[in-house]
Amino acid sequence: MRLETNRLVIRPWTDRDCAPFASINADPEVRRYYYPALLDQAQSDAVIAQCMDHLDRQGFAFLALERRDDGALIGGAGLSITDDVPGGPAIEIGWILGRPFWRQGYASEASRAWFDWGWAHGMTEIVGYTSAINTPSRRAMESLGMRRTPADDFADVTVPEGNPLRPHVLYRITNPRRR
Ligand SMILES: CC(C)(COP(=O)(O)OP(=O)(O)OC[C@H]1O[C@@H](n2cnc3c(N)ncnc32)[C@H](O)[C@@H]1OP(=O)(O)O)[C@@H](O)C(=O)NCCC(=O)NCCS
Repeated sequence: MRLETNRLVIRPWTDRDCAPFASINADPEVRRYYYPALLDQAQSDAVIAQCMDHLDRQGFAFLALERRDDGALIGGAGLSITDDVPGGPAIEIGWILGRPFWRQGYASEASRAWFDWGWAHGMTEIVGYTSAINTPSRRAMESLGMRRTPADDFADVTVPEGNPLRPHVLYRITNPRRR
């Protein structure tokens, strides 16, 4: 699959993405809110392989974000099925961008394209979740019109107790065509 926005192409991962995606996943600032934090090249490649497997099996996945102007891989964004949220399974939007590409509206632009795709394909709701302390990701979800209900807050049990990344918040957005 391939989605195009004004500035981005959202497309399947290719071998040439492995090096730039590994650089993104090796940046402590980018991975500040992830547990475990940094990924090495093999772990980053495994993420790509898993996404391509999801794409084959489900018809959607967390995919590569390429900037149309110069073909740069700026990160990844997309939809996945998650069992990790209260009331799951759910369809989740996720994103990770290299630091030089932050705060230029790219995550929002990619997410809107994914939402349109999800609604057109009959999805009724898309969720997003992150550590409660991940302000950039929370702002991105809020700016996209996603809504948090505090009753949905949960602990990511894969993060040790006492770690500040353990408390998570859940945001939801509903298919506007089904309201
Ligand atoms: C979260 C992330 C994807 C946001 O991407 P982005 O392209 O910079 O976001 P956008 O430019 O589309 O901004 C979306 C909104 O979030 C706000 N925002 C983005 N970064 C912010 C920050 N550091 N602090 C406060 N607000 C921020 C923007 O102002 C914008 O709000 P607005 O529309 O009201 O102005 C990016 O910071 C990132 O890759 N972070 C590291 C990976 C990560 O944590 N991913 C999420 C894991 S759950």
